[in-house]
Amino acid sequence: LHLEGKYIKPETKEVNGILMTKLISDNWDKIWNFQAKPDDLLIATYAKAGTTWTQEIVDMIQNDGDVQKCQRANTFDRHPFIEWTLPPPLNSGVEKANAMPSPRILRTHLSTQLLPPSFWENNCKFLYVARNAKDCMVSYYHFQKMNQGLPEPGTWEEYFETFINGKVVWGSWFDHVKGWWEIKDRYQILFLFYEDIKRDPKHEIQKVIKFMGKNLDETVLNTIVQETAFEKMKENPMTNRSTVPKSMMDQSISPFMRKGMVGDWKNHFTVSQNERFDEIYKRKMEGTSIKFCLEL
Ligand code: A3P
Repeated sequence: LHLEGKYIKPETKEVNGILMTKLISDNWDKIWNFQAKPDDLLIATYAKAGTTWTQEIVDMIQNDGDVQKCQRANTFDRHPFIEWTLPPPLNSGVEKANAMPSPRILRTHLSTQLLPPSFWENNCKFLYVARNAKDCMVSYYHFQKMNQGLPEPGTWEEYFETFINGKVVWGSWFDHVKGWWEIKDRYQILFLFYEDIKRDPKHEIQKVIKFMGKNLDETVLNTIVQETAFEKMKENPMTNRSTVPKSMMDQSISPFMRKGMVGDWKNHFTVSQNERFDEIYKRKMEGTSIKFCLEL
């Protein structure tokens, strides 16, 4: 939010019990009534689960591995973020999506119960990427510190409680992941894991290629693997958010392309936090068959 030349941390407000920025909440009617089209592909993730990475993979596939074409714009401008709402006159995600020619690739952090119903009605394709809760928490904490578009996270100890209680923007990690996992066989959903992409990018990227109905040869596949590696994307101005003003994202606090690894939670969680987390995790994830990898 822009005030007297300075960005200030935004207010939050719930939508159906799920925390959102106030701007998203106040724009909720427009978001809920968003009209999806049958040939839309929606990239859905919980915050910090590897959205930008997935977007780059998908864009490279859509453009047959053409690096130049993928440099045409910032990641956040290539794929409209449907619920993201900025103060007018800036365009919101809905407006950007409405202005985009088909076939559209869109992205969201919405949980299944908040997703605009037209996505289900049109049987759109969904690419969901999940990342283990502990690394998501760490990544989100650092992101909230550097990003003026999201609330102040407080200390790590405070944030630990906030995250567990789902009092972060986009709500509970547990509910988000469970919700998408539970419906994955009822819709056209390719459900991937951050940790799997990290371990075997070639294999996972091949799944995305097939899901998108593309046919790319080995050389192109290898190019996509190389170009979407963390080290490459960290240097790429169209993916690393270096074009975002410092007043909005202060990368001296924490770079947007921070570590890109599996298991950084071990550098943050104390032994007792870890025990408490595992306990709560067991309770909250009871009855679901989803399995996460926490280290490579
Ligand atoms: P870390 O903060 O753990 O480094 P999102 O795009 O959903 O906001 O997710 C951001 C997280 O994905 C950050 O995690 C970021 O470093 C990581 N990331 C981005 N590109 C990546 C890549 N090519 N490989 C691995 N991780 C990547």
